Amino acid sequence: MNLDFSRISSYSPLFVKGAVTTIELTLVSVIFGIILGLVVALLKMSSFKPLSFIGSAYVELIRGTPLLVQLYIVYYGLPQLIGQDIPSFPAAVAALSINSGAYVAEIIRAGIQAVDYGQMEAARSLGMSYGLAMRFVIIPQAIKNILPALGNEFVALLKESAAVSVISMSDLMRQADIIRAATYTAFEPLIVVALIYFVMTYIFSTFQRILERRLKASDSR
Ligand code: ARG
Repeated sequence: MNLDFSRISSYSPLFVKGAVTTIELTLVSVIFGIILGLVVALLKMSSFKPLSFIGSAYVELIRGTPLLVQLYIVYYGLPQLIGQDIPSFPAAVAALSINSGAYVAEIIRAGIQAVDYGQMEAARSLGMSYGLAMRFVIIPQAIKNILPALGNEFVALLKESAAVSVISMSDLMRQADIIRAATYTAFEPLIVVALIYFVMTYIFSTFQRILERRLKASDSR
């Protein structure tokens, strides 16, 4: 066994740079993913059939194909159609957001539909319009289902974003490749990268647990 972390110690700025890129990428993608997911969820829940079909088709298509293939389609496929290269950051954000949007749409839809139907009936029987009932009765309860699940989505996307290393994005995963090629050591950089991913997801999950406990607090009466 010839483990020697000192061989990669001079590369620590690369890990930091990679981690920052990974976080930036995930944050931007999750924001676009939520916007897209909201639109798709509304489409899917629409009572106008063609709209709900578009929403459902989007979710099924995106969840039914690998993220890696979607990344390649955006980065290598699209430029052929539009006759122009797409830089890797926008390509990565586009693919991750498009992917995340499908998952977020399901989170939002499930979160709203998990609110007992009796809540809507009760609100309507008190004379509230559909819109008022949605705004003041259903959505506030749905938020409690949706927020924790969005936290999970963020963590999932943070990890899945490692796939963008194949389209030459200098994310955290990519740094392991670069250091492996430069130093002929593979185990050490990969372990360091795994550890950094773990620390990032662990910190975030801790925040999420606190938030979840706060949301629960108002449930007990
Ligand atoms: N790895 C899976 C895929 O290739 C899951 C992607 C998960 N994405 C997400 N936004 N939660 O499609």
